[in-house]
Amino acid sequence: MKRFRRLLFRAPTASALVALGGVAACSPGPAFTEPVTFGTRVVQPHTLEEGRDIYNRFCANCHGLDGTANTAAARQMDPPPRDLTQALFKHKTSPGNQLPTDADLIRVIQHGVPGTGMAAWGHLASTELDAVTQYLKMFSPRWRAGSPASETGSKRP
Ligand code: HEC
Repeated sequence: MKRFRRLLFRAPTASALVALGGVAACSPGPAFTEPVTFGTRVVQPHTLEEGRDIYNRFCANCHGLDGTANTAAARQMDPPPRDLTQALFKHKTSPGNQLPTDADLIRVIQHGVPGTGMAAWGHLASTELDAVTQYLKMFSPRWRAGSPASETGSKRP
């Protein structure tokens, strides 16, 4: 476990990023053609496309292409990567089981969760952080407009 952590916390090197980028060349996942509304935020298809590419490249290894975190990497981790299809989050400013704000999600992605496998993705540009944040909302209907829980997740940071 210790060795694994040390590997994870090292910032990704340029060559690692290039290698991972190769995987994303065949980016699986849905093609987005219509805007999607999360709470009060209308997200354009190109943002979701960008978010999906970033997610598949940097996040799917642990959280799974389908967001369920049923991955080989996940089985090595305690705590495990979040199952994004549940849309239940820990590191947030909203109370109870309410959805986090975009700012909460972006903070966690940018800074990681020290002491866990969740590394910091501080090298991503703010537009990329926003795009991947919007994309991960596709994994659960909780985020969609009309869902009672969707309000708090809708605001821009
Ligand atoms: C090496 C494995 C790994 C990778 C890669 C990874 N994560 Fe995580 N992620 C984790 C783990 C482990 C946790 C659980 C942390 C905890 O329980 O506090 C987590 C938690 C999260 C959470 C939940 C935070 C919360 O408040 O509950 C989000 C959101 C998240 N990751 C998004 C991402 C995104 C987006 C990426 C890609 C940019 C990513 N992760 C890449 C392992 C990973």
